[in-house]
Amino acid sequence: RRDLLMLGIETSCDDTAAAVVRGDGEILSQAISSQVLLVKWGGVAPKMAEEAHALAIDQVVQKALDDANVSESDLSAVAVTIGPGLSLCLRVGVHKARKIAKVFGLPIVGVHHMEAHALVSRLVNKDLNYPFLALLISGGHNLLVLAQNLGEYVQLGTTIDDAIGEAYDKAARWLGLDIRKGGGPALEELALEGDPNSINFTVPLRQHKDCNFSYAGLKTQVRLTIESRNLCTDDIPISSATEEDRQLRANIAASFQRIAVLHLEDRCQRAVEWALKMKPSIKNFVVSGGVASNQYVRTRLNHIAEKNGLQLVSPPPSLCTDNGVS
Ligand code: KG4
Ligand code: ZN
Repeated sequence: RRDLLMLGIETSCDDTAAAVVRGDGEILSQAISSQVLLVKWGGVAPKMAEEAHALAIDQVVQKALDDANVSESDLSAVAVTIGPGLSLCLRVGVHKARKIAKVFGLPIVGVHHMEAHALVSRLVNKDLNYPFLALLISGGHNLLVLAQNLGEYVQLGTTIDDAIGEAYDKAARWLGLDIRKGGGPALEELALEGDPNSINFTVPLRQHKDCNFSYAGLKTQVRLTIESRNLCTDDIPISSATEEDRQLRANIAASFQRIAVLHLEDRCQRAVEWALKMKPSIKNFVVSGGVASNQYVRTRLNHIAEKNGLQLVSPPPSLCTDNGVS
């Protein structure tokens, strides 16, 4: 509906994001402030992240309103991420949403962060109908879900330890990459220079015939490989590595990426088979969450979709990573 105007607020992790979206799905604005805490601390420190959200939230929301050329009084409702995420951080967004809702007498819509990652696909692909299969891959989650209807989901698989994004982030840091724009993108770029078949990492959980994931073991394999080659990459950034050392790091990055994604492919192939048995009318395979902005991931999963007669639906990178639109 064109007459509805929603303000969306997201502060579940390290990005402070807001957007204004019209009821018919038209995105009127998107504002985001990303934290660089990851670089300094090698992870998201909740208390520092909370402070950064608190500093940024008013400006980010104002920017989203200004860019959309609307004021709070034009809004129909406020939507805000209520979980899962870091509770200290979520509180900043929820507090802001409640303040606006109270002053302007608006309803609040609480949004599940992973549901948002899945359903944003319906904004960009208007033909995406239920039921569909979704793979949601981010820094904290690795989910395979059969979406039967709005709010009706069957979880087919999840991670038993780490999510793939966490593995990318740690591997990138250990390889001494410049992770100011995120570990995932940095590792993807370096992997382009490497030989993906040069190091034999083991594909996780091959003997488990289910749809669950595990990335902790692969992370350890990367760490041990780095240590066994005496790379000391935490201390020596890749910018000051020798040519030979750089090539070795690129080989590790490319081999890691090949196996990390092969693990996704294994589980997705099985999930597609399970899902089609449960709902033979499935036409689409949705891939979303921060890691879905990776080109290699998209290409490999597109292959799985095509092989099974499904169409891959993956939002543009700006809607795969955390944002206010979803
Ligand atoms: O969905 P998201 O923005 O936040 C969470 O909900 O966690 O996902 C962030 C994760 C991070 O681990 C980041 O390194 C990863 O997504 N990521 C990528 C790429 N872009 C973001 N991983 C691999 N390749 C990328 N191009
Ligand atoms: Zn996310």
